[in-house]
Amino acid sequence: MSNNLFDFGMIGLGVMGRNLLLNVADHGFSVIGFDKDEAKTSALETAATAGTTVKGVPDLAEMVQQLKTPRKVMMLVPAGKPVDDVIESLLPLLEKGDVVIDGGNSHYTDTLRRVEYLKETGINFMGMGVSGGEQGARTGPSMMPGGNVEAYGHIKPILESIAAKVGDVPCVDYLGKGGAGHYVKMVHNGIEYAIMQLISESYALLKKGGLSNEQLHETFKSWNEGLLQSFLVEITADIFLQKDDKTDAHLVDVISDKAGSKGTGKWTSQDSMELPVAVPVIDTAVAMRTLSGYKDERIQAAQLYSDTEFLAKLTQEELVAMVHDALYFATILSYAQGLAMLFQASKELQMDIPLPKVVSVWRGGCIIRSSLLEVFSKAYANNAALSNILLDAEVAGIIKSVLGNTRSAVALAAQEGVPAGALASSLAYFDAFRSERMPTNLIQAQRDYFGAHTYQRIDIPGTFHTEWGQN
Ligand code: 6PG
Repeated sequence: MSNNLFDFGMIGLGVMGRNLLLNVADHGFSVIGFDKDEAKTSALETAATAGTTVKGVPDLAEMVQQLKTPRKVMMLVPAGKPVDDVIESLLPLLEKGDVVIDGGNSHYTDTLRRVEYLKETGINFMGMGVSGGEQGARTGPSMMPGGNVEAYGHIKPILESIAAKVGDVPCVDYLGKGGAGHYVKMVHNGIEYAIMQLISESYALLKKGGLSNEQLHETFKSWNEGLLQSFLVEITADIFLQKDDKTDAHLVDVISDKAGSKGTGKWTSQDSMELPVAVPVIDTAVAMRTLSGYKDERIQAAQLYSDTEFLAKLTQEELVAMVHDALYFATILSYAQGLAMLFQASKELQMDIPLPKVVSVWRGGCIIRSSLLEVFSKAYANNAALSNILLDAEVAGIIKSVLGNTRSAVALAAQEGVPAGALASSLAYFDAFRSERMPTNLIQAQRDYFGAHTYQRIDIPGTFHTEWGQN
């Protein structure tokens, strides 16, 4: 085989790497994949569509030698040390101008460090968030690349051809400098955590209100046909129908309630506090996954604080309508908090993240795709520099239309003892955000009282301190 034959290379042929590479090949590019595990290189070739050019090799140097220059190589390996190890083995094999893309869920600070590290070699390192799971990788993911904009030019035709499409607009775009791609993906995952938590709280309320799995399926199915149309609501409807293959139960009822996590939601919360920016729905979602792990203590506590019957006098239709509106409200608040975080981070970390493009890229292929993103697209079309989507007039209209039911649902959850912390915190954030004057003047007074931390006044400029309790 002659040199310089392949258009695109992939390092790591796990499920995501293989599927993404096959997707590239399906779009007319010749591709070569590397994995030390020969079972994976042959699985790649076996799965290739007839007529496409796909090769798997167990030797990294062999793969690199067979790439057209400037070389375009993506890695899909576990985040952390494996990414650094791949970079070290690639370094002697690459040349100035080559483009290396990390498509995993790396922390953006690692990406920044790697961009800097490779700068002097002239190798362009780009961090790119990839969303959509196995299926998305194979048939059309949403992709969030960031880094050197010229380097993006080299990979743009390939990425645009393999991305999910909304109409004919590809769900990929250049999303900013440095670690912006991975930053955007981190916040995407924070929003993913928030919406998943909100759906689970809605499920808890509806279940306690007496809905069976079949009724839950019907409810989520009809929600997915309306304002709440989204990938996560759609799969939730399917989940309620799934039967267990080991017992007569519905599968959802025999799944342990300990929720896993790989850390990206936690990173979003941690980083929000560094900026700082408030993302309490995401924080609550992370906290609830953590609490779900404390099973033994929860079993003891359940005995001490026994549950109560559902007492509210509501028809199921009324309950469903109330929860629908609360979920819609809180979902908007989750996006609002995530996007506000991106707005702030873009400025603080000089990433130049174009929010209208972020929203466009999220419209298809990714886990948080939903019809609400069309509403947000319109908001950014009216004002690309919107600091918080709650400040858009159309969004405000939607919020006001569901606010009454949201308050009722949060109150109902509190009365019925249903844990709905994310729903409640979306409302609490909203009520604070819409307050011209928050009660934090009292906190300033307390800080000055016990620590002489000083305060500002509303009527006279300057900084003040009072000897409290002396009059
Ligand atoms: C995606 C997802 C994906 C993520 C999983 C697992 O966009 O396709 O965000 O990248 O890794 O959802 O996340 P947790 O294990 O943390 O729930």
